[in-house]
Amino acid sequence: MRSTRVVLLLAALGAYASGAAPSSKESSKQLGAAAHKAGTPFGDDFAGSSTCQMCHEDIYKNFRKSAHTFVETDKRGGWDEHGCESCHGPGAKHAGSATAEDIRNPLKLTAVETDKTCLSCHLNTAKHSERISSSHMKDAVACTSCHTIHGNGPAGLVARGAAQVNSLCSSCHKDVAVQFAKPFRHKVPEAEMTCVDCHNPHGSNRKAMVQSFAANDVGCVKCHGDKRGPFTFEHAPVRFEGCATCHEPHGSSNPRMLVRQEVKSVCLECHSNMPAVKTPAVGSPMGVVPPAFHDLRSPRYQNCTVCHQKIHGSYADRNLLK
Ligand code: HEC
Ligand code: HEC
Ligand code: HEC
Ligand code: HEC
Ligand code: HEC
Ligand code: HEC
Ligand code: HEC
Ligand code: HEC
Ligand code: HEC
Ligand code: HEC
Repeated sequence: MRSTRVVLLLAALGAYASGAAPSSKESSKQLGAAAHKAGTPFGDDFAGSSTCQMCHEDIYKNFRKSAHTFVETDKRGGWDEHGCESCHGPGAKHAGSATAEDIRNPLKLTAVETDKTCLSCHLNTAKHSERISSSHMKDAVACTSCHTIHGNGPAGLVARGAAQVNSLCSSCHKDVAVQFAKPFRHKVPEAEMTCVDCHNPHGSNRKAMVQSFAANDVGCVKCHGDKRGPFTFEHAPVRFEGCATCHEPHGSSNPRMLVRQEVKSVCLECHSNMPAVKTPAVGSPMGVVPPAFHDLRSPRYQNCTVCHQKIHGSYADRNLLK
């Protein structure tokens, strides 16, 4: 699996080499060809990583320990011994002048340009195919907002531990982080769960970049498998509108993380002949009105889920009673 990915990445390198260094088109072309001809020298614009090492020893050493060391050592990629310049562009001029103006620093580029640098190799890997549609892309949150290449950020190149991931996300999404202080919530602050369990930071086809499971189910059913179905008798909103119609996924003041204090209020927003109140996710998709014997003044009929126990879908009863 891993080696297939590397080969795919490396295959992308040829394309990168011929497109991403406009200041030195000739040598870049040469470089593209070099991917297939081992031993072809890089152009004069290029310095080689050992030159960079002379002045940036710490970064060089860190780099050789990071996942990106592949770029430096794998001859097939075309950046053999020139890994630094795969992101920073040709560096001979800078190696001579030692001034910042002569070298590309991804942090100083626009988010789009930074992303292009990274995606020249990372496009179409499993986690990035949908980045085009992500809110992080639209709102100019670049790859480098979350990934520190030289491992000098708090989480290194990539946040992996649950606590690290959550603090990364919470550093910008403070409003969301506080929702996890409510009484009924998922155990995110305890790092038993992460934001990435439910969201794909690289984007997804679903609203709010929500993770999907088995291609087209909501990510929630990865853990709440009993709600997955398919059921003989579906409850339409569970299937078509999603869990967040009735639950507040981050945290709620209401038991079961419901969007309303009482269960019946959740139900009656759709199952009544009153004008519909908008629900969080979709507006007002009305359900059928409860039959007349439901006397809502009587306490017996107020706790809907005492009778309608299979509220997420039933294998046995079309009224979701069992
Ligand atoms: C002769 C020493 C020397 C060599 C060789 C050298 N650098 Fe630098 N580099 C520097 C100095 C000094 C600075 C700080 C410049 C400044 O802040 O004005 C710097 C800064 C940088 C920066 C940051 C620029 C910025 O915008 O802040 C990058 C990126 C960089 N170097 C990459 C490289 C790469 C890649 C190579 C190899 C191709 C390389 N350097 C080779 C001395 C060197
Ligand atoms: C995968 C892309 C990539 C590669 C390969 C890479 N860098 Fe960088 N470099 C970056 C990014 C992005 C930054 C901005 C800071 C950060 O994210 O860590 C950066 C920042 C720098 C800086 C500025 C100082 C700093 O820490 O902010 C220097 C100097 C530098 N790189 C040198 C090098 C050298 C030397 C190599 C090779 C050993 C290298 N880089 C390889 C992407 C890369
Ligand atoms: C020249 C090709 C190339 C470029 C450009 C490049 N990468 Fe990578 N990247 C790789 C390879 C090869 C790997 C290692 C294989 C793997 O884990 O998928 C890797 C791995 C990673 C990883 C995973 C590390 C891990 O521990 O699993 C992250 C995160 C990453 N790169 C981010 C970036 C970012 C951000 C940029 C842009 C600043 C960037 N890369 C630019 C080739 C590249
Ligand atoms: C909002 C924060 C964020 C942004 C923006 C972001 N990433 Fe990530 N990335 C993460 C997190 C968190 C992980 C770890 C996910 C995990 O462990 O499941 C990750 C994982 C990765 C990995 C490892 C792949 C893997 O399968 O685990 C790569 C490669 C990567 N990112 C590259 C990129 C590139 C390239 C970009 C820009 C196009 C980017 N990322 C933008 C947060 C981000
Ligand atoms: C550098 C700041 C920053 C970091 C770090 C960051 N985000 Fe974001 N995120 C944003 C911005 C800006 C937006 C777009 C505006 C908004 O919707 O709040 C956004 C949007 C989102 C959205 C989509 C909102 C929507 O309605 O489409 C989700 C979900 C999200 N981020 C999750 C995450 C997760 C998960 C992480 C951690 C892996 C993370 N973010 C890390 C800045 C950040
Ligand atoms: C249990 C799953 C789950 C977890 C854990 C989770 N989210 Fe969400 N999040 C969702 C769902 C589902 C939505 C969409 C809600 C909707 O459709 O109204 C959402 C919406 C969002 C939004 C956009 C709407 C808003 O409320 O601003 C952002 C931003 C966001 N989440 C960030 C985060 C961050 C940051 C974390 C971690 C601190 C996190 N989420 C943890 C499931 C989750
Ligand atoms: C990574 C696994 C995981 C994911 C993904 C997940 N949950 Fe949960 N959920 C749990 C666990 C574990 C609990 C109960 C333990 C606790 O945290 O108190 C829980 C509790 C709940 C509860 C409260 C149950 C009760 O008895 O009070 C609701 C409602 C819920 N989740 C809905 C959702 C929704 C909606 C989503 C998707 C937006 C989701 N969950 C995604 C693991 C997950
Ligand atoms: C039509 C509204 C509605 C939708 C949509 C919905 N739920 Fe629920 N859910 C409820 C109600 C009401 C309860 C409380 C039942 C009770 O009174 O005990 C509940 C309870 C729960 C519980 C805790 C009790 C149990 O049965 O395990 C979990 C976990 C849960 N829901 C997960 C989900 C997931 C995951 C989804 C999406 C696949 C989802 N819910 C969609 C209404 C809904
Ligand atoms: C977001 C709107 C919505 C919410 C909230 C909602 N429902 Fe529904 N419900 C529907 C729709 C739509 C149908 C399908 C009606 C149809 O088949 O015409 C349905 C079907 C049903 C059915 C089966 C009726 C039939 O003829 O198929 C029952 C029973 C039911 N809901 C009970 C409840 C209960 C109890 C609650 C509260 C826990 C609830 N619903 C919450 C929209 C909702
Ligand atoms: C004491 C048990 C009980 C309680 C409590 C209860 N129901 Fe029902 N409900 C039933 C039974 C039994 C049926 C099936 C009637 C039939 O077979 O036609 C039903 C049917 C329904 C239907 C389907 C109507 C149709 O035309 O298909 C809806 C919608 C409904 N109930 C909603 C609710 C709501 C909303 C609540 C809470 C306010 C609630 N129920 C509370 C027993 C109950």
